Amino acid sequence: MKVLIIDDELNIREQMKKYLLLENIDAVCSENALSAQKIIRESIFDAVLVDLKMPGMDGLSFIKWVRQEGFRIPIIMISAYGDISDAVSALKEGAQDYVVKPFNPEEIVIKLKALVEAQNLRNIMELENRKANSSENEIIGISNHMQKIREFVNRLTNTTSTVLITGESGTGKEVVARNIHKNSTSASSPFVPINIGGVLDNLLESELFGYEKGAFTGALSRKIGMFEIASGGTLFLDEIGDMPMSLQVKLLRVLQEHCIIRLGSTQLIPINARIICATNKNLEEEVKNGKFREDLFYRLNVIRINIPPLRERKEDIPVLASSILSRFNRMMGKKISGFTVEAMDKLKKYPFYGNVRELENVIERAVIFTDTDLIQSSELELSSEFYKKAENSLILDKSNNAVSLKDLEKSAIINALERWEGNRTKAALELKISRRTLISKIHEFGLDL
Ligand SMILES: Nc1ncnc2c1ncn2[C@@H]1O[C@H](COP(=O)(O)OP(=O)(O)OP(=O)(O)O)[C@@H](O)[C@H]1O
Ligand SMILES: [Mg+2]
Repeated sequence: MKVLIIDDELNIREQMKKYLLLENIDAVCSENALSAQKIIRESIFDAVLVDLKMPGMDGLSFIKWVRQEGFRIPIIMISAYGDISDAVSALKEGAQDYVVKPFNPEEIVIKLKALVEAQNLRNIMELENRKANSSENEIIGISNHMQKIREFVNRLTNTTSTVLITGESGTGKEVVARNIHKNSTSASSPFVPINIGGVLDNLLESELFGYEKGAFTGALSRKIGMFEIASGGTLFLDEIGDMPMSLQVKLLRVLQEHCIIRLGSTQLIPINARIICATNKNLEEEVKNGKFREDLFYRLNVIRINIPPLRERKEDIPVLASSILSRFNRMMGKKISGFTVEAMDKLKKYPFYGNVRELENVIERAVIFTDTDLIQSSELELSSEFYKKAENSLILDKSNNAVSLKDLEKSAIINALERWEGNRTKAALELKISRRTLISKIHEFGLDL
């Protein structure tokens, strides 16, 4: 963190700078507002501390100038006792907070940290909103299934019901969630994503619910949680399958009662954010195994959107590939116009276990290395192991009619066994047959090693 201190008193500048350094906060000092104007233009600061009464340009005019110039940096004003009415005008001009001299440096540090965190959050929200509203987030795909998903998303415009999005990793669950938000009546309110699996269990609750100052050691100021931040908009709970049991109960309560209580408080706060959840886990299985609450599952499963893996909708590969290509062309300033026929064939044959995200990675690498007008097959670096598997085993390709049902069955079994490295229980689960049936089919096809 880097802070600009503006005060005409040398004492205050030096003391503050020393104290901030102890807290690992960098400080640059300026003895008047005029030189501060130059400094703030030339370097990036996270916050400004400015004295009110200074010779020449005073603090109030400085704050006015900062806002006129469009700097959004948080400002804390320092005022002497008795200048309170000026402090109020400073808040009106765009300062976020003020302290009264003589002040406790610790108080300033707490205020600084809270302001900077709030500003960071605002920046993130804005970025998220821009992302949510940009055309880069269209749901691309011509397969029946993707067309149905698009239609379905359009029909969700007027409801605020909870939506559960399922699908393998990289299938586009977040893309769909952003589209639901973008098409909703609350599109101008925030879209707040949180990756449940990415937050430590003991932090998750305070991230979601927020806390009051003093709720626990280290709770130095109030923190607003994600449920409240998403107010009027959409809260996207990604990887919901990773939510610890103890929090599952609390989420269920929020969904039923539409209010929350911040940690360390007793006050009920109404919540009107729409909740969208996503997971690549099989929640029905998780419920069976006692890892996910059944009541919560039913509460979330009101509207369900399942996105099939890319290998089951290969018609989507060409449109996705060309849209991804034009995006990377734009980003890298290239003008590659497409793929050779062999290159596209290669993409269409590949099983893409990492789904659209893997397709993006493959194309990104190819765009970096291609100097020609079309991407060549040799420039697509597909994971050779999967590629060989795909080549060797029969591919469930709709255009290929000359295959017997038995061959298809055999190839599905080989694929599943290879994917699960010979684990028959998991392969059977994937094939939706019993382990016994799988073993007898393995005998029948002579697949046992
Ligand atoms: N139908 C689609 N149209 C356009 N882009 C897509 C589509 N599906 C996926 N993508 C792109 O693929 C990438 C992965 O998508 P996304 O992050 O939505 O997947 P996910 O299902 O949330 O994955 P994970 O489970 O790993 O979080 C993103 O960059 C996204 O833009
Ligand atoms: Mg995701």
